[in-house]
Amino acid sequence: MSDTGRSIRMLPGANEGTTMTAVRTRRPGSVEGLELVRVPVPVPGPDEVLVRVHATSVTRGDVVLRRMPGFVVRAFGEKPKRILGHEFAGVVVAVGDDALGFAPGSRVFGTTSGTEHGAHAEYVVAAAEGMIAEIPDRVSFDEAAPVPVGAMTALHFLERGGVGPGRSVLVNGASGSVGTFAVQIARARGARVTAVCSGRNAGLALDLGADDVIDHTTTDATTTGRRFDAVFDTVGTLRSRSVRAILADGGRFVTTRSRRDETLAELMDVRDLLASGALSAVIDRDYDLDDVADAHRHVETGRKRGNVLVRVHPKEI
Ligand SMILES: NC(=O)c1ccc[n+]([C@@H]2O[C@H](COP(=O)([O-])OP(=O)(O)OC[C@H]3O[C@@H](n4cnc5c(N)ncnc54)[C@H](OP(=O)(O)O)[C@@H]3O)[C@@H](O)[C@H]2O)c1
Repeated sequence: MSDTGRSIRMLPGANEGTTMTAVRTRRPGSVEGLELVRVPVPVPGPDEVLVRVHATSVTRGDVVLRRMPGFVVRAFGEKPKRILGHEFAGVVVAVGDDALGFAPGSRVFGTTSGTEHGAHAEYVVAAAEGMIAEIPDRVSFDEAAPVPVGAMTALHFLERGGVGPGRSVLVNGASGSVGTFAVQIARARGARVTAVCSGRNAGLALDLGADDVIDHTTTDATTTGRRFDAVFDTVGTLRSRSVRAILADGGRFVTTRSRRDETLAELMDVRDLLASGALSAVIDRDYDLDDVADAHRHVETGRKRGNVLVRVHPKEI
């Protein structure tokens, strides 16, 4: 029984404390405003689970949210997060009475998007019917944690772009988080992939399955005269007027500048791609939770390769 009188199934031996370390922002703005604080371990509601976080990530979205005042977050229809962090991988340690589908000990990954909870913490609460799924066997916490946000975004926009067998797609920003997942997913869907990144990342893009690479530091991808069935701008640097010149008849331009909502179906599709081995996370750097400010600084350079991992509870249990 919790002290709220609710019945909660706990992982035997989990021995959860009453407080945890989490990352908060003292005031919206610079990295210096980030602080590690001790806060109460959240108690899951009847239809929620408590996850002991093993790994999380710092995404571009985390940096944007860190800078954003609460009233702006609310104006976008989102709930401000007191604890930062969007994606997590860990072990379910407590389950509310009505939370179906998960048991204490389940290895899970997911996102806190759309909720007031944050994943830059030792524990996170998630709705059992929310954005959470079992991690495939043989995929580690470190491999799973940085996947959901970037891979679901890639999947969503590739589908909107009609990317499938025999289609050609240009992926702009192919070496970033969304981009590295987009190259792999487009390839797995049987598309011909042209990656746009800087020359230093050309090998990475080819290794991930790109057929060829355009180096944006020497060549403007919109003036090569080539045409594509889809252009996916993952980093928001292309303008629709210039993209028209490289779209085949009926071709589609999709960009991460468009708003979208995550769906559980997308997370399950991503899970299947992970399980099949068609998808894996490129990890640029990894940090301990104590060094999360350095992780933010690296993401802010705009030059990260794939993803930035943050280890919270490094040991697998
Ligand atoms: N709409 C949504 O739901 C949604 C969801 C997630 C993310 N996003 C947004 O999507 C964007 C990308 O996120 P991300 O995490 O993938 O970014 P990221 O990983 O931080 O992107 C870094 C990459 O951008 C590349 N890059 C920088 N300037 C470039 C240019 N001019 N042309 C081509 N590539 C360039 C860099 O490659 P080089 O070093 O090789 O140049 C680097 O590898 C962000 O704005 C994020 O907020 C939107």
